[in-house]
This record gives sequence, structure tokens and C-alpha cells, in this order.
Amino acid sequence: MAQARGGGSRARSWTGSGGLPKVAHGSGIYVFDTAGKRYLDASGGPAVFCLGHGHPEVTAAIVQQLERIAHGYRYTFTSDPLEELRELITAACGRASRLDAMVFVSGGSEAVESALKVALQYHSARGEMTRRRFIARRRSWHGNTLGALGVSDFLDRRAPFEGALVEASFVPQVSLYRPPEGVAPEALGAHAAAQLEAEILRVGPERVAGFIFEPVVGAAGGAMPPPSGYAARVREICSRYGVLLIADEVMCGSGRTGSWRALEQDGVVPDIMAVAKGLAGGYLPLGATIFSREIAAALEAADGGPLTGHTFSAHTAACAAGVAVQRIIARDGLLERVRTAGAKFQPALRSALAPYEAVGDVRGRGFLIGVELVAERDTRAPFPAERALAETIGQCAFEDGLICYAAGGNVDGIEGDIVLLAPPFIASDAELEEIITRFARAVGRGLAVSARRV
Ligand SMILES: Cc1ncc(COP(=O)(O)O)c(C=O)c1O
Repeated sequence: MAQARGGGSRARSWTGSGGLPKVAHGSGIYVFDTAGKRYLDASGGPAVFCLGHGHPEVTAAIVQQLERIAHGYRYTFTSDPLEELRELITAACGRASRLDAMVFVSGGSEAVESALKVALQYHSARGEMTRRRFIARRRSWHGNTLGALGVSDFLDRRAPFEGALVEASFVPQVSLYRPPEGVAPEALGAHAAAQLEAEILRVGPERVAGFIFEPVVGAAGGAMPPPSGYAARVREICSRYGVLLIADEVMCGSGRTGSWRALEQDGVVPDIMAVAKGLAGGYLPLGATIFSREIAAALEAADGGPLTGHTFSAHTAACAAGVAVQRIIARDGLLERVRTAGAKFQPALRSALAPYEAVGDVRGRGFLIGVELVAERDTRAPFPAERALAETIGQCAFEDGLICYAAGGNVDGIEGDIVLLAPPFIASDAELEEIITRFARAVGRGLAVSARRV
């Protein structure tokens, strides 16, 4: 599905109508509209539907839970699904990570918002009330609530709210495809980490609450993995200055990159982590803010616990969906599947797209893959924004019955064309091949159609 420049949803779809087809049902990696048209969901919607649609075990788990109770409100009751999900997440994070405290929420923005609040509360609990400032990166997306938007950098999503957002500092984006001039890709990790350290020192370490980043940048950066050594160096710097390291794994986490935590592959443990999207596979809204035992102890000592959460936090049916999804992923070895199939998918996609000069880069990790389109391969110059190339490719794919996730603005907030593919973990080899064939066709058509615009 195409998105507007800067990744914002099209205004025409704000009511959920306005020319969009009406969804009827889904089965596996396919979605059907009420006119009977079939769509292959190559991006799992917005990188959400990790088990595809209509998984009978997940549906049954939700129905069984709803037959018991509407919702067990968190200040009155705990519940089996809540406790089991907590256990499953703790185990998935790895017991050695000490990430075993969590607050459940209903989505990614809430998970990030709570991550920011947990960081602020932690510093206040320790008497460091000056630590109020967050540092984030350019070309990153953390969500649509005022706090999460304040640390986000999709220009057109921020613009109407400027002046009222949480104040944040931004360090440059970290893109292996677009390293700063004179910086070799192998030096980028150290270079970018030094930029973070310089910003902490500029602001004053005693004023910085946390550094938030997407370990693998999703829509805003086109599935951009970190340069080697970057995350470890950032971890060191944050620890040195008492700055909390916040990993936004809303898109790249919950197994999408082939490990439950995306940062696991960089050998790094954050202090706080936000997850959502695939946690309950999109069957019900669910997210979580996960944090270390040490942070939890400080919050408990000062305030009795984290001062964040909502009426529907840890919604019992949503937790039951999360438990079912996470159990299936573990039982069916789907992380291993994402790792091995993902490693083959990227080169196959690269070679199918090779005939197109405009395909500058194919990258990602596991089942989070980004394709960046450029006007010139040598200079990596982007297409003019008016050409709306990514959106057009997304639209051509959609017309042809293939759902992918197009976003723009990754170069400077306005120019830049990327399309994300984030197949459900259950996609078979044949389905993955079909995605590649049909996506290549959409790229060809999108290039031709958008060329007529300029
Ligand atoms: C990395 C990241 N963080 C946060 C969010 C916000 O999540 P939600 O849309 O569920 O509020 C998103 C959504 O795309 C995201 O990709």
C-alpha cells in the first residue's frame, strides 16, 4: 500500500474509506477484498502480520479468552495470559539480558511513549531531575503521540505540531548506503557513535535522559541495519554518561529480523525496549515497554512502580493473542525460518531487480527488507519528490494484487524513495518467489508510470 512523502498515510484514507477497497477476509499471506480481488501481503501490512491472516490457533485462543472475561483490568486483577506473556517475553529477551520488567500497552506509539516516561521516572527516582532531554536520530520514526513524535523525524508528520512537541536533540541518520562524505562504510559505526557522544557533551550529560534509536531503521530508513560495531559503541557511550539506551524495536523486533530482539545480533542489551506490531501478529492491538530489573527496582523504591499505562494495558484477550502468536513462533521454529529464508530472499531479490538501473540498494535483516531507488547509481542522487516513485511502485503493486510498504523522504526528509517488504514469517519458498517476481514487475511499471509525471 502506498504511503505519502515522509511516510504519512494518505489523507484520502483518513476515514478508512475514500476510494480504498473494502477488506473482506484473509487467509495465510493472502488478503481478499469484497470485490473478490486477492492480494499477496508482501509487507505483512505495515510489518505486522507475522503469522499471516486467519491463523485458527490464534483466533481460537482469543475467542476462548473472551468467553471467560471481557478484560481483567490491571489494577484489579492479574491473569493467566498476562503472566504467561510476561514469562514468554522474558525468556525471548534472554534471561541474561535482565530485561524482565514490562508494561503492556496497545501499540507502538504507546510503547515508545512509556519507554520515554520510564526513562524520565528512573532519573527522577534517583534524584537526577535535570535529565529531561532525549537524543534521537534523523530519519527515524517512533510514533504519533506527542512524546514519540517529538523524537521522530518524518518531517510532514511533525510539521503541524512543531512548537508543542517534547524537546529533543537529533544526531544525523546512520546509513551505510549514504555515509557522510569521506567516511568509509567500515568507519561509519565509530563515526556515528562519536557524533552521539559529541551531542551528549554539547547538551551536558547531566541533562540527557536517554538515546532512542531503531536498531534496524524501518520505514524512515528503508530497513537499514546498523554499521558494524555501532550499537556496541553506543552502548558503551550511554553507560559512560548515565544516559539510558532505548531500543525502538516496534518494527524490527519480535522476531522480524530473525532473532527475537533485533539488537541481539549486535551483542547489545538496551536499558529499555519498545515492541508492538508483530507481538500479537496484528490479531489484536498489543505492545510492550520492556526494561531492566535495575530500572524496575528504582521505580518501585521511589514510586511503587512505573507511572505509565492505560485502561486497556495488558488487555486480557490481547495478551492471549500474544501468547498464542509467540508460542507458535517458538513451536514452529519461525525465527530460524526467518533467518535462513531471509538470507536467501535478499540476494534473490537483488538479482531479480538487477536489470533496473534505478534500484540503488537492497538491504535489511531477516524478513525486513528495504529497496532504495535512485536517479543515478553512481552518485546515489534521489529522484525528484514530484515523481513520487516509491508511492507509484506501491500503487502499481497494489493494483496487481501485491501489498508492499512504500515510503519517501529518507534522504533529506523530502526526497528519497524506498519500498519495504516484510513477509509473514510463514511465507513458503514458493510464496517468497512469487513476491520477488511480482515486486520486480511493479518496479518496472512504477518506473514507467512515474516517468510520465516529470
Ligand atoms: C519503529 C517504530 N516505532 C514506533 C511506531 C509506532 O507504532 P504504532 O503505529 O503501532 O503506534 C512505528 C510504526 O510504524 C515504528 O515503525
